[in-house]
Amino acid sequence: MKEVKVALLGAGTVGSAVVRLLQANAEEFNLRAGARLRVIGIAVRNLEAPRDPAIDRALLTTDAHAIIAQADIVIELMGGIEPAREYILAAFAAGASVVTGNKALLAEHGPELYDAAARAGVDLYYEAAVGGAVPVVYGLRESLAGDRVTHILGIVNGTTNYILDEMTTNGESFDAAVKKAQELGYAEADPSADVDGYDAAAKCAILASLAFHTRVQLSDVHTHGIREITPEMIASAGRGGYVVKLVASAKRRADGIELYVGPTLIPAQHPLATVHGAYNAIVVEGEAADRLMFYGPGAGGDPTATAVLSDLVAAAHHRVHGGLAPRELAYGELPILPPTQA
Ligand code: NDP
Ligand code: HSE
Repeated sequence: MKEVKVALLGAGTVGSAVVRLLQANAEEFNLRAGARLRVIGIAVRNLEAPRDPAIDRALLTTDAHAIIAQADIVIELMGGIEPAREYILAAFAAGASVVTGNKALLAEHGPELYDAAARAGVDLYYEAAVGGAVPVVYGLRESLAGDRVTHILGIVNGTTNYILDEMTTNGESFDAAVKKAQELGYAEADPSADVDGYDAAAKCAILASLAFHTRVQLSDVHTHGIREITPEMIASAGRGGYVVKLVASAKRRADGIELYVGPTLIPAQHPLATVHGAYNAIVVEGEAADRLMFYGPGAGGDPTATAVLSDLVAAAHHRVHGGLAPRELAYGELPILPPTQA
């Protein structure tokens, strides 16, 4: 069986879970990939920090470029814009395919990265960037390629859903709920990306790019966070038959696309109202298919690692055996509209 060399950038919440699950299910993943997956190095900032016992300390390095240069596939799970962008471009230049969960980077520099991958003849996989374990990237790009999507409405940030849920059902304070979300590994390194809505906006931009074949960026999404939501507002919404959720909406209108992220009153009987904890749910409306819902764990190490690993298996299989690669998107020119409603 041919060997595929994997460089991992980042061994935090998600990177550690990737290593642990890869070890636990090595035979099955190798079988699915049709190749032997071997981690050749793991780049981190701090070599001395405590680590998941699954991490072989002999593989740790602070020299990301050294392991990128030897890899067939690079998994980027560091987060942030730089040096993640620089490392991904270096991976493409070295002929490696890349798997990433970095929605912030994709929403700001997606076109540059997709173009660089195409020029190098390698692939960029990013199922983990939206929805944790929920296969919504694949669903929109591949399964729904046979329809014309008209609206995406979803809960795409697990941290804020968890916080609002804790405030609603357990009477938890905002600050205590944020702290718990951090401890559970749901929140971004800087949780203001979650609570101020930018993580959801990045995901909204990625989903809208896929659904509407238009290059949508973070700055195109009208964004509000949940800092101003108080327990009194939640209680008052409840008395009126509503729950407060941070939703992302991307809607096709006659003259363009409207994009919005913000706290929204959802009727208690709506499917999004029953999404609890760090779960995500994305309702996609298509002209012909009607309404579909993608639902499942949207954050956390293990759920997100499953999306990374499915991309790794696909990338390795494609590298060794050819066949299906993620389809490149052709982009149209749908204008981005100012928001009128969610
Ligand atoms: P963590 O903060 O837990 O881990 C980040 C890791 O990257 C750490 O091991 C850190 O090293 C390493 N790192 C950071 N900067 C550098 C650098 N400059 N050079 C080398 N290593 C570096 O993040 P998560 O695992 O939570 O998230 C990783 C990515 O996955 C992010 O893009 C995030 O948005 C995305 N994601 C996260 C999800 C989640 O639920 N947590 C879900 C979906 C996507 P060290 O350990 O030494 O500090
Ligand atoms: N911080 C993100 C969230 C992680 O809470 O949804 C998953 O992308």
